[in-house]
Amino acid sequence: MDTPVIYLNNAATSWPKPPEVIEAVNESFRQPFNESGRSTSQLPTDYLNTTREAVAGFFRVQDPDHIIFTANATDSLNTLIHGFAMKTPESFHVLMTDLDHNSVIRPLRTLEQAGRCSVSMVPSSGSHINPESMESAIRKDTRLVVMAHGSNVLGSVQDITGIGRYLQERNIFFMVDGAQTAGLVPVDLRTAPVDAFVFTGHKYLFGFPGTGGFFIRDPTRISPSRQGGTGTFSKSPFQPMDLPEKFETGTPNYPGIISLGAGIRYLEKTGAMAIERKMRDLTAVFMNAFADDENIIVYNKNPGLPVISLNIRDLPNEDAGFILREMYGVICRTGLHCAPLIHDRINGGVGSLRLSPSYLNTHEECVTAAEAVRDVADRVHCS
Ligand SMILES: Cc1ncc(COP(=O)(O)O)c(C=O)c1O
Repeated sequence: MDTPVIYLNNAATSWPKPPEVIEAVNESFRQPFNESGRSTSQLPTDYLNTTREAVAGFFRVQDPDHIIFTANATDSLNTLIHGFAMKTPESFHVLMTDLDHNSVIRPLRTLEQAGRCSVSMVPSSGSHINPESMESAIRKDTRLVVMAHGSNVLGSVQDITGIGRYLQERNIFFMVDGAQTAGLVPVDLRTAPVDAFVFTGHKYLFGFPGTGGFFIRDPTRISPSRQGGTGTFSKSPFQPMDLPEKFETGTPNYPGIISLGAGIRYLEKTGAMAIERKMRDLTAVFMNAFADDENIIVYNKNPGLPVISLNIRDLPNEDAGFILREMYGVICRTGLHCAPLIHDRINGGVGSLRLSPSYLNTHEECVTAAEAVRDVADRVHCS
């Protein structure tokens, strides 16, 4: 296909990666990996710890050992949710929200099915979680709240400070899924009232797929659900309780972790303000282009994240996505985006076509893609 590709599926995984990220990984393959404490390597490149320090600095975490690397946000959420249940002997009540992703819904419903907890869903206003709705859903046996910081369908960002303070006063563990916000919304974990914060490496932190992690404030609240080699306390048949070994076991994804470190350095160099400004401008290109088109139904007029969710009237979103890809080179996401509950709320679960630019998209690409969507809508309604 000769049409140049315009990639607008960054809320799923970002592409392209900054050249610095690719170069850092390429460069790392020219040297043996340095497993500090596990091999006789004397190389100065301790990728694991330099990236841990970079991630800790980015989220303002004082002790880098409280940053745990995982394969992705799903892996982090599973580790935290199942580890919380293992540590909590009695059955308990959990709250999630209708904006949550299947990586929250499925581990919780699986635990519920096993009789370990009961789950209630807090309905949003249609985009935001009202702290009062959260408060009224809390029961005497509520021990855990898990919720998305940013919606991957509507791009709305939740007030984790207000909600977290309320939960903190009641000693309810607050797990925040920051898969969509990490790299877009600055988060200061020294002061944010959250007990655990999940990030993914491969979206807006610009690392490779297969990267992610979480911050854990008090590791004694979570049991390790996996055991294996750590290179430490090797005589012990049990998993060490030190961080990060308690939750990191087996050979790490070195190239992925190197890409994550380079992605963080790229973001630090670019600056949060520049990123915020550009993402707002690119989102506005789409919103302005669709505002007066009655054949384009936009579900989120004022998102906090660069996510535009829409349908073209009388055209299934899967067909619209196919046409955009084949005729205009525009790559986007269609369907339920693994967050089925909010789709039920916005349009009875028919799904949407999602456009999600990143800092590496250009203004011109977004103008061209917006014209392509309008063109498809015009053609459907001229025929
Ligand atoms: C809100 C949210 N949570 C979790 C995930 C899962 O992320 P990962 O692909 O890193 O497991 C996603 C990704 O689509 C997401 O948007």
